[in-house]
Amino acid sequence: MRQSLIMGNWKMNGSLESTKSLCSAIMEGLNADDTGIAVCAPYVYLSALKDMTTNSALSVGAQNVADQTSGAYTGEISASMLKEMACTYALVGHSERRSYYGDTDDSVADRFCEAQKEGIVPVLCIGETLAEREANETFNVVNRQLDAVIEKAGIDALENSVIAYEPVWAIGTGVTASDEQAQEVHKAIRERIAAKNTAIADKIQILYGGSMKPGNAKGLLAMADIDGGLIGGASLDAASFLEIYRSI
Ligand code: 13P
Repeated sequence: MRQSLIMGNWKMNGSLESTKSLCSAIMEGLNADDTGIAVCAPYVYLSALKDMTTNSALSVGAQNVADQTSGAYTGEISASMLKEMACTYALVGHSERRSYYGDTDDSVADRFCEAQKEGIVPVLCIGETLAEREANETFNVVNRQLDAVIEKAGIDALENSVIAYEPVWAIGTGVTASDEQAQEVHKAIRERIAAKNTAIADKIQILYGGSMKPGNAKGLLAMADIDGGLIGGASLDAASFLEIYRSI
């Protein structure tokens, strides 16, 4: 039985004050023995969240990590810096990074490796655009995005990672993949990993992301290969986020 994981991605939202109150409100809804819940915050708020979440059930992650270890890379944040901020997770390859900031399959694989070198669990985001789905390219796209990481990091590296399937057409649009549409892709991802290592395929958490809300989370999370969610908009509201967490 795989442990489930509900992860919020706050994206570029909030202020220091609102971030602290959102974090407090989420923590107030958790019990000491709750596990499998995390939030990915903007870099500049990670220090405050580190102080607030020490010894709490809530884990913290970053929304990206540099593809280099250190040096003259103005504006970048390294994995060792995230480690200092007590990050458990780092997203890599989010579609907004791929489409607006030019993160490539290759640089995403480097980011994945950089995170792991510091013991941070990379959350590899993959998913197709609407045009790619309509052209029947969904499986080719997610396979290509997954293979780029496996080729660079090796299949064993997936043991300490999480995958998030986020169809780009479902992100922030209010249109979610149906339970069956999502399950079909999750199953294919797990089978592709199983072809190389069945133990890792059985264990790896594959999250769904894209307009997940309290109203649709239960159905999605009940699917055999959907192990949790990566939640954008609904994670900015503590009550909605906790409701999704409790719906597992
Ligand atoms: P929404 O939940 O707002 O669609 O965002 C999903 C997402 O991109 C999480 O990383």
